[in-house]
Amino acid sequence: MRCRSDGSRRSMAPSLHTLSLLFFFFLRLSTAWRPLPHMKNNVTELEFGGYKKYEGSSEFVKLKYHMGPVLTSNITVHIIWYGTWPSSQKRIIREFINSISAADDRRSPSVSGWWKTVQLYTDQTGSNITRSVRLGEEKNDRLLSHGKTLTRLSIQSVIKSAVTAKTKPLPIHPKGGVYLLLTADDVYVEDFCQNVCGFHYFTFPSIVGYTLPYAWVGNSAKLCPGMCAYPFSVPDYIPGLKPLKSPNGEAAIDGMISVIAHEIAEVASNPLANAWYAGEDPSFPVEIADLCEGIYGTGGGGSYTGQMLNDEDGATYNMHGIRRRFLVQWVWNHVVNYCTGPNALD
Ligand SMILES: *[C@@H]1O[C@H](CO)[C@@H](O)[C@H](O)[C@H]1NC(C)=O
Ligand SMILES: *[C@@H]1O[C@H](CO)[C@@H](O)[C@H](O)[C@H]1NC(C)=O
Ligand SMILES: *[C@@H]1O[C@H](CO)[C@@H](O)[C@H](O)[C@H]1NC(C)=O
Repeated sequence: MRCRSDGSRRSMAPSLHTLSLLFFFFLRLSTAWRPLPHMKNNVTELEFGGYKKYEGSSEFVKLKYHMGPVLTSNITVHIIWYGTWPSSQKRIIREFINSISAADDRRSPSVSGWWKTVQLYTDQTGSNITRSVRLGEEKNDRLLSHGKTLTRLSIQSVIKSAVTAKTKPLPIHPKGGVYLLLTADDVYVEDFCQNVCGFHYFTFPSIVGYTLPYAWVGNSAKLCPGMCAYPFSVPDYIPGLKPLKSPNGEAAIDGMISVIAHEIAEVASNPLANAWYAGEDPSFPVEIADLCEGIYGTGGGGSYTGQMLNDEDGATYNMHGIRRRFLVQWVWNHVVNYCTGPNALD
């Protein structure tokens, strides 16, 4: 075999290139889609639209199924309203959840059309995620039973209080129940605004008595709307960037809708953190909605949201629900290997 003096460089070059691309891609995944605090000093990407990673399409995404369950039984979302929630705001959120399984003859693009991408995920037996998502019982925790600052663990205590309350406890519903904790705008939750707007996990039997999938989403109105209600609110440190008009007249709530959708899609496809995710570490999984954060339409990627729709009042949305319109991020479609949504132009 002849040794060429430049042999090693030739074989090294592509793999180093691949590695740096991979690094670049995952760096982007975790930083590009929301204006995060650490982007303050470099707005180049927002100003110039970043590079085009159309709808998240990438050969580097290795979403894998890790053999755990997905939510194939009808999903019932039980809401815990933590703190003071005006009924006008509750109504928007309830109507979004009710829209997920609304009949197909609604105006398209529809929220139920958005859920179809989530339904593409199956478990070991080949059963798909259910088409049925309905609103269950609700519990008001108006007086902040566990204080104004919650940790990931004290969230479980809030859920425990809700399912063991003396009056009207939430039902224990391990099969198909999803417990959605929504915190009011004066409540701080561990990591809120640092790098998360919501998260999901499952409760521990040692704290709650049962293993129940849950999600938390915070109202960012006072704490970080420029991050968690983006693009209906924008961060101050980006001069000239204008917020878009929100479809239900409540920037923070309209921003929460997309985060709630994100978390419900991920609870359904990875309820016990052992089903569908990318990355090696199940404690920091990259899940089906993480892969498409900030992508709301065709061409989306980098800091570009993709093509959205405008109503007669100039508000921006991308899908119809029951009586209302919503802006909801797309989710990863493992069949075609890119993000898809009901308002796709092709
Ligand atoms: C900002 O980011 C761009 C591209 O990511 C880079 O080329 C530039 O050097 C950065 N500027 C600063 C001030 O960090
Ligand atoms: C179930 O999942 C499979 C595999 O992703 C997909 O081909 C099929 O269309 C899904 N069925 C429904 C009803 O979504
Ligand atoms: C699941 O929901 C559908 C309607 O979406 C309903 O027809 C069906 O009876 C439900 N199944 C169970 C087991 O509750």
